[in-house]
Amino acid sequence: MNRIVIGCDHGGFEYKEMIKEYLLEKDYEIIDAGCYDKSSVDYPDVALKVANTVNEENVRGIIICGTGIGISISANKCHGIRAALCLNEYMAKMARNHNDSNVLALGQRVMGIGLALSIVDTWLEATFDGGRHENRVHKMMKMEGE
Ligand code: RB5
Repeated sequence: MNRIVIGCDHGGFEYKEMIKEYLLEKDYEIIDAGCYDKSSVDYPDVALKVANTVNEENVRGIIICGTGIGISISANKCHGIRAALCLNEYMAKMARNHNDSNVLALGQRVMGIGLALSIVDTWLEATFDGGRHENRVHKMMKMEGE
């Protein structure tokens, strides 16, 4: 799947632009859910927009705010979303291998852009292991009421 939806609040705007450029160069098709400048916006609004796109377009998503916390908590309240806030490549790999996360959350104010791009690469390339993790993911999703 080479289509990705990406969204941010004002605290993640620069990284959203940089990650977008990076992925465009790698031939990903990007759906940009905003925000589109540094004006203050509320991260739950962006999280909902990204979540809706993930569900409707059957794509994975990347969300960014200052810490990654507010936008990931918000996304995880939306139907069908398993958003993982990742601070390193190991977390990114496990978020796919074990948790089948469909949204990656990053914090612009807590890491350098080099690490952020490396986390993005790791997360996009890793796959779900299935097996014993299948039932756990299923139980997780049942908690939101199918
Ligand atoms: C915005 O200032 C900031 O609160 C937001 O980007 C994020 O860090 C919230 O979790």
